[in-house]
Amino acid sequence: MAPSAWLSLLAFAAAAQAQSGGSAMLRFGCSNIVIDRIDPLVDPGKIPSPHVHQIIGGDAFNASMPVGDISQVATCTSCTYEEDFSNYWTANVYFKARNGTFKRVPIMVNDAIGAANGGMTVYYSSPGKGAVTAFKPGFRMFSGDAKRRTPTNLGKSTQSCFRCYDGPNFKGNVMSPCFDPQRDTEGFPTKPCLGGWRSSVIFPICWDGKNLDSPNHADHISHPVGGPASFTVMSAKCPSTHPVKIPQVHLEIVWDTTKFNNKNDWPADGSQPFVLSHGDTTGFGQHGDYVFGWKGDSLQKAMDNACFAASCKQLKSQSFSKANQCVVKNAVKENNDGWLERLPGME
Ligand SMILES: *[C@@H]1O[C@H](CO)[C@@H](O)[C@H](O)[C@H]1NC(C)=O
Ligand SMILES: *[C@@H]1O[C@H](CO)[C@@H](O)[C@H](O)[C@H]1NC(C)=O
Repeated sequence: MAPSAWLSLLAFAAAAQAQSGGSAMLRFGCSNIVIDRIDPLVDPGKIPSPHVHQIIGGDAFNASMPVGDISQVATCTSCTYEEDFSNYWTANVYFKARNGTFKRVPIMVNDAIGAANGGMTVYYSSPGKGAVTAFKPGFRMFSGDAKRRTPTNLGKSTQSCFRCYDGPNFKGNVMSPCFDPQRDTEGFPTKPCLGGWRSSVIFPICWDGKNLDSPNHADHISHPVGGPASFTVMSAKCPSTHPVKIPQVHLEIVWDTTKFNNKNDWPADGSQPFVLSHGDTTGFGQHGDYVFGWKGDSLQKAMDNACFAASCKQLKSQSFSKANQCVVKNAVKENNDGWLERLPGME
């Protein structure tokens, strides 16, 4: 662990809390429930879907998921907070060796999370009591643009970035996600990172107040007036088209790229050898999918009671020994590990 980094975030959040009176920031771990080639949001019912994902959250995850209250369908969750039956998923990262074969990059557990099985860290933030409206059953959304291969030029407030750690145990974790000009990039890091990488995917914070979803899974949500709200900045104003402020959902995934730092295995021209499972060799196409599934009004309560990190009087927590038992069977039986001739689904 890197207590210094996590403590600086704690101090930051405490200061923000003192200032705004009652801001909330949940931060908790969820283990992988499955690594599979299905996507109930973008390609519902398709088995297999075009590319591999890693999925966390409740066990209602399926190739197609009914629009409704999935907390009533799920029987367990891989998340620390027992009321969170939501599903969250992203593309996987693969290493492409000089000989042209691929290997999936393992996921490490994040700083101060506990004994999760890989997975992700999930944040939900609110600037103060009554300031956000929690999602409704059936709500889903998408963040990022899988087709993007160039920077958004949004600078530090980018919604997607990679932290290049200086060394083991999260060394170099000194600034907020996507805010470190030395270590954060919107595309993949271009040099070997001695402590691996941390991906951040930050979802928009404004909602049209009506639609649970939209054809591209993004039009019913929006960034605030003046552009995307970065991590910890939640006070921005929502546009009149999307007037309802929703909790800021933010995902972090820590990739153990250190096994692949031998430059002799990198392309002969020195270019970086990593690729997202949807074929993106730049990292600019990093994206995240979300299906809301908190039970009842539990998320609203957490947002309105200044809940912080993985401690919240209004919520129930479970240990990872229990959370790790929540798994989903693969819909697509294929090799996701070992050295692969091609990325699953890619020609
Ligand atoms: C997933 O969908 C299939 C086909 O509709 C169904 O048989 C199965 O019970 C579903 N699984 C879950 C966990 O909902
Ligand atoms: C390709 O390169 C990797 C990394 O050096 C190695 O582990 C693997 O065995 C190689 N595969 C083939 C088919 O040569």
